Amino acid sequence: MKIKVLFVASEVTPLAKVGGLGDVVGALPKALSKFGVDVRVITGYYGTHDEKIYPTKITGKMFVPWNNEQLSVNIRKTIIPKSRVPVYLIDQPRVVGTGGVYDSPTAIAGSEAEVERFLFISKAAVLLPEIIKFKPDIWHLHDWHAAPVTLFLDSTHAPVLLTIHNLANQGWASLATMIRAGLSVSGAKNFNLFRAGLEKADYLSTVSPTYALEIQSAPCGEGLEDILRRRQRELTGIVNGIDTQVFNPATDRCIVRRYDAHHLERKFLNTTALRRFGGLENILVPVFGIVSRFTNQKGVDILVEAIEPFIKDKRLQFVFLGQGEKNLEELCLDLAKRYPQFCYGKIGFDAVLAQKIYAGSDFFLMPSRFEPCGLGQLIAMRYGTIPIVRATGGLKDTVTDISEPGGSGLVFDDFNSRALQKIIDHALALYSNRAKIKTVRRRAMRHDFSWEASAKEYLKLYKHLMK
Ligand code: GLC
Repeated sequence: MKIKVLFVASEVTPLAKVGGLGDVVGALPKALSKFGVDVRVITGYYGTHDEKIYPTKITGKMFVPWNNEQLSVNIRKTIIPKSRVPVYLIDQPRVVGTGGVYDSPTAIAGSEAEVERFLFISKAAVLLPEIIKFKPDIWHLHDWHAAPVTLFLDSTHAPVLLTIHNLANQGWASLATMIRAGLSVSGAKNFNLFRAGLEKADYLSTVSPTYALEIQSAPCGEGLEDILRRRQRELTGIVNGIDTQVFNPATDRCIVRRYDAHHLERKFLNTTALRRFGGLENILVPVFGIVSRFTNQKGVDILVEAIEPFIKDKRLQFVFLGQGEKNLEELCLDLAKRYPQFCYGKIGFDAVLAQKIYAGSDFFLMPSRFEPCGLGQLIAMRYGTIPIVRATGGLKDTVTDISEPGGSGLVFDDFNSRALQKIIDHALALYSNRAKIKTVRRRAMRHDFSWEASAKEYLKLYKHLMK
C-alpha cells in the first residue's frame, strides 16, 4: 500500500515561487514519489498565476464557511512540471486571488489580508480530501502559512508533520480575522498562527540539524524558543536537496558554455561572458556573486560594507541579483553606480541571470545572520563556484572550510564586516593558487546534493508517525 501524503504550502516552484520554500515544495514531492509515496500538494491560486504557462483545470467545487457566508471555491488541478505529482490550487478570487503569493516581495508576513488568505487556504485544505477522494496518511505542512490547518482538523485526523523553513516569518491574526475564519479564541488580541501549529502538530521538523538546535533559544527562536525547547524530542532537522536536473552545469541551457568537473576551463568562459553581460572590465580578478532575497537575514548590509574596499582597489568584481528591502537594494545599486567596471547587479527575480551568476562567479557569498538551510550554497558548489558562508544553520551543516580535510568552501564565524573581509582575503589567496582552487572546485562539484537522501529521511519520519 502506498503511503498517501498531502502537502500544504504557500509556494510551489515553478508555479509560484518567492524563495527557497517554493523550491523545496516543488522538488521534495517528486523525490518522494520515486520512492512510491502518493504525494499531492495544496496551494493557493494567486492573482499572478499565468494560465498560458501553467494551465490548470477545474476539477471540483466546494463551499467554505467564512465570515457567516459560504464562499464558493473552484478547485483547480495541475501537476508539478516534469512529474506526475498533482497540485490542487484553491481558487477564491476575493480572498486568495487578490495579488501575488505574498503582499511583499520578501515573504515577510505583511497585511491582515495576507494572513486571512492563508487561513482561508488552510481551512479549504482540510475540506479538500473529501472532494478529491484522497484521504491522507500524513499531513505535511510548511511554515506558518499552512500551520492553521492544525486548527481546522478534527480529532480523528491523520498525523501532522509541520516543517519550519523560516521562523522569522510568523503570521499574526487579529481577533476579527479569527472570527471570520470561524475560530473561537479567548484572551489575546492577536493570535500567532505559527505558534498554534507548533503546539498542535504531531511532529516538527526543520531544514537542517544546526537550525533545529539554534531555534531552541534566542535569537533564532524568534520568541517561539520556549515551545521548541519543550518539544525538542519531537523536533528534527533534515537538510534540503536541490533539483540536480535543473541545476546542472553540464546541461544548463541558460549558460554560455556547459561544463563539468573535467572541463573547468569552460567555466572560465562563463565568467568572461558574465563580465561582458554586466559591462564589467575584462580583467583577471575573481568574480564574487550573490543571488538572494534582500532581507535582514541575508547579511547584505555587512556584505556591502566589507566588499567596497576590495572593489575600490580593483581586487575583485561583484555581481548581485535579488530584491527585497529598499535600503538594501539601494546599497547595492549605489555600489554598481559608483564602480560600473567592477560591480554589476539587478534588482528583481531572474532565473536565467541567476544561473549565469552561479556558473560565472568564482565565489558565491552567503554571509547570513541566520540560515535555516540555504540553497544557494548547494547550487554554487554544483557549479564549482566556491561558497563563502557564515557558520550558521544549514550553511554550517553543508559547507566545510578548506582548512579541513575535504573542505570545499570558506567559512567564517562572527557576523560582522571585518570577519567577512578576512575570509575574502582567504578567497583571494586561494584564487591566486590555480592548482589548489581547481582541486577545491572539483571537490565541491562531487558532493551529492540530490533530493534522494532527504526524501528517504522524510519517508522514515512518515512511517514513524504512522505507527
Ligand atoms: C527559507 C530559508 C532558507 C531555506 C528555505 C527552504 O527560505 O530562509 O534557509 O533554505 O526556506 O527550506
